[in-house]
Amino acid sequence: MHANSRPVTSRQTEAHSQLARLVARHVASPYQKPIMPYNRAAFDLFVQHWRAAGEPPVILDAGCGVGLSTYHLAAQSPHSFVVGVDQSADRIDRKTQWPGPPPHNALLLRAELADFWRLMGAAAIPLERHYLLYPNPWPKIGHLGRRWHGHPAFPAAIALGGTIECRSNWPVYIEEFGMALRQLGVTEVAVEPYAPARPITPFEIKYLASGQQLWRCHARISQEIVARM
Ligand SMILES: C[S@@+](CC[C@H](N)C(=O)[O-])C[C@H]1O[C@@H](n2cnc3c(N)ncnc32)[C@H](O)[C@@H]1O
Repeated sequence: MHANSRPVTSRQTEAHSQLARLVARHVASPYQKPIMPYNRAAFDLFVQHWRAAGEPPVILDAGCGVGLSTYHLAAQSPHSFVVGVDQSADRIDRKTQWPGPPPHNALLLRAELADFWRLMGAAAIPLERHYLLYPNPWPKIGHLGRRWHGHPAFPAAIALGGTIECRSNWPVYIEEFGMALRQLGVTEVAVEPYAPARPITPFEIKYLASGQQLWRCHARISQEIVARM
């Protein structure tokens, strides 16, 4: 694995001054973009597999890339159903570094997350756990709206409940993620350095091999918050 990954550089060195305003706007006006048919088809496939598995608790690996984390999460959680979602068909198909055959409780789907989150919410399928592992940092100051916590679908993602964990090699991203969660009313929010005993994604492996510090935001979204959103 490559050990030559460089840390994120950005002119933005602390949480964005417009974050709170942007999150407030997204809470006030829910995301209305029409759902694309291919995302609905992917979601229907998920429901079909999940029902066939007996509707176990769901773990969503959001932006799973080649799905290595989906593999590991499924192997570690045999009583849950782990769905890895990524918009890149190429990455989904690669299954790079999968150490064995797909676990019985893992499913990889090509879909766009903003649609997938809203379809999960509309179907009232709650999450047990929700992972956003090493999302693209979009480190330019003008790119706040491309980070997940600055996206109009962020409230819909949080409304799925469960525990949520975002990991990044850019501490500003994680700090902002935690601030956005608190703004939505989530109280049990931890923002901390992260040193995995065993890395579970290709990006995590690459960053660790390059000696980079990793960060994570971990939170539990209460039923009260879910009901309010
Ligand atoms: C930096 S990669 C990280 C992949 C993997 N989680 C890892 O740690 O190795 C970010 C991934 O998010 C996916 N992604 C970005 N925006 C997305 C969206 N709107 N819907 C679904 N996937 C998305 C990309 O295709 C890419 O695979």
